[in-house]
Amino acid sequence: MMPMTTVIINGYLGKMGTEAVKAVTADANLTLVAQTDKNDSLSEVIQAKNPDVVVDLTHPSTIFENCKSILKSAHAVIGTTGLTTEQLTNLDTLAKDNNKGVFVIPNFAIGAILMMKFAKEASKYMERVEIIEYHHDKKADAPSGTAIKTAELIAEGNSEINSTPLDETEIIEGARGATKNNIPIHSVRLPGHVADQSVIFGAQGQKLTLSHDTISREAFMPGLIVCIKKIGATTGLTYGLENILFSS
Ligand SMILES: NC(=O)c1ccc[n+]([C@@H]2O[C@H](COP(=O)([O-])OP(=O)(O)OC[C@H]3O[C@@H](n4cnc5c(N)ncnc54)[C@H](OP(=O)(O)O)[C@@H]3O)[C@@H](O)[C@H]2O)c1
Repeated sequence: MMPMTTVIINGYLGKMGTEAVKAVTADANLTLVAQTDKNDSLSEVIQAKNPDVVVDLTHPSTIFENCKSILKSAHAVIGTTGLTTEQLTNLDTLAKDNNKGVFVIPNFAIGAILMMKFAKEASKYMERVEIIEYHHDKKADAPSGTAIKTAELIAEGNSEINSTPLDETEIIEGARGATKNNIPIHSVRLPGHVADQSVIFGAQGQKLTLSHDTISREAFMPGLIVCIKKIGATTGLTYGLENILFSS
């Protein structure tokens, strides 16, 4: 029999938190010992309940501080986006010092992970690439964590992609999007979207588009549950679901 893992969901009143509470409650090997949101003291609840794992689905403005308080005594599964590279490094050190795992997962949906994996592969054979990501109009950060991670993976696959400069002038600043690893990222924010992304590759006389559309937030739950169950065997930072699903 699998040992029971005790869990706190932080941000339970939000769109992702609501789904996460349902998913954890429905799993026979997980026990939800508390759910917290903006008006609760996360550190006091952690102290009182002593969970194995805290899942954070809150806001970019608070995620670094939340993560630091979680890692004092529990493993941290972080779905909240917006952590900087420097903050990730700090969290890795803190987690290792405390013998805890921290999973920072820009996207829990398997389809999105496959899109990123295929994009890394395609990058080896194509000359240019741009990313368009689409989210609902309440999303706090831009570009999305998934777009940033995709750009990083494409650059790992082909560090020369987009290296030929284009002969162009931006008539309106920002028209060509933000850039990460020399890859333009265009962020669309509209009601009606959950989380979609297209990675568009171009080469002579052809283009290749890899698209992933999230129809509902249920898409994120199987990945989240895997993370909760696997984090107990890890220490330090793991960044991206692909490193959990596709390793060994
Ligand atoms: N990794 C993934 O696969 C994935 C997928 C979708 C979304 N996300 C990310 O997950 C996060 C949550 O998304 P969402 O759509 O669920 O947002 P949301 O609906 O706004 O929910 C966030 C919840 O967290 C609460 N909150 C804000 N600050 C807090 C704090 N300091 N302590 C505790 N709770 C706090 C919010 O309260 P108020 O409303 O009162 O501010 C709200 O109840 C975002 O960063 C989003 O980008 C990740």
